[in-house]
Amino acid sequence: MKKVNVEEKIARNNGTPFYLYSEEKIIKNISELKNEFNSSDYEILYAMKANSNPYIVKLIFSYGIGVDACSLEEIELALRCNIPSNKIHYNADCLTKSEIEFAFQKNVNVSIGSLDALDDIDDIDDIDDIDDIEISSLEKSITLRVNTGIGAGHSSKVITNGEMSKFGISPSEINHAQKICNAKKIKISGLHSHTGSGEMSTKMYIENAEFLMELSIQLDSLSHLNFGGGFGYDYKSYEQYDLSSIRSSLDSLRKNFNISDKTKFLIEPGRFFVANAGRLVAKVSSLKSFGNRNYMGLDTGYNHFPRCFYYNAWHHIENISSKEKHIEKYDVVGNLCQSGDVFTRERPLPKTKKGDLICINDVGAYGYSMSSNFNLRRRPAEYILDKNGSIIQIRRAENFEDLFSTSFLD
Ligand SMILES: Cc1ncc(COP(=O)(O)O)c(C=O)c1O
Repeated sequence: MKKVNVEEKIARNNGTPFYLYSEEKIIKNISELKNEFNSSDYEILYAMKANSNPYIVKLIFSYGIGVDACSLEEIELALRCNIPSNKIHYNADCLTKSEIEFAFQKNVNVSIGSLDALDDIDDIDDIDDIDDIEISSLEKSITLRVNTGIGAGHSSKVITNGEMSKFGISPSEINHAQKICNAKKIKISGLHSHTGSGEMSTKMYIENAEFLMELSIQLDSLSHLNFGGGFGYDYKSYEQYDLSSIRSSLDSLRKNFNISDKTKFLIEPGRFFVANAGRLVAKVSSLKSFGNRNYMGLDTGYNHFPRCFYYNAWHHIENISSKEKHIEKYDVVGNLCQSGDVFTRERPLPKTKKGDLICINDVGAYGYSMSSNFNLRRRPAEYILDKNGSIIQIRRAENFEDLFSTSFLD
């Protein structure tokens, strides 16, 4: 009898497309990070923008990992997943006064990346009914996000330091920031800087960390330095990211700068936790050729998985139905009404039939979390193969009504 794999089973019972994650792989990624950064002077955060499915957020938190949240909604989700506020770090940009107030109210760690945002923080003296409030609950502390100029990333769109990046204050503004904070009795409890996302070389990460440590010397009593995330993932040849060089370099820089163990070093990768743990499973809905060019059309599009469209990202693509030895080159395309809806061009794949199942691999990070309803297409379901081998649906596919839940159809 033909062995039916998990993808076929879900496709047969519930249809395509869908995301399928592996709990085992996520746990393995968590273990790698925990084994490498295994002492109490480190804290690991998960940048939940990579994948914010509540099942996955709770799974990662169950291993003692905190979160990097970049919106009020991500803070709310973290709190709803019972992540304590002291394990939530809010790193957003273009903060409004009300966003800052919300974060303070929820007692999460707030990163501030512009001087005008500091101006927006209420002075203790500005607060009405001050006599009724305990002073200690009014003491505010913030992390300053610094744009060190040392940026790196898999695409120019995800480099977050340097002149072309909107993030952070410049190092020369730290004194000014300190003055504003002193005047407002706000404590600067940490510095933060993130080079960018998905760079395989660790060189810039370490250079950036060194720069941040050097800057930290001018500030007293910092409780943490946050070096950001950005640990690379090699989507093509699966070369391993060199975690141990990060650990050993951070340790020796700590020694060189004589930074106390009490100042925690924070790392906040997102992609590293989940990239390899997800695949998007779709069905071939159309095959056609123009001259030598073969188009393989799928029942999904960049609205479900935008990395190829946004970044020209390369992902392994497999036909898990075909047993054909004969290889053809295919342009694998999506079903959206836009000619840029292309996952790959001229990819060698086994000769394909309509109805074959195609997997786009390593889509666990920045896949579903960046999806949309473009063309009014519904977002797909998400499943996870849990550590006991059971298939669990962790999000249903959207239905027609969901698309109009915020507007007025009738
Ligand atoms: C401040 C910050 N931290 C962490 C991350 C996570 O990056 P990655 O998923 O590449 O590790 C990002 C990504 O944009 C970020 O902006």
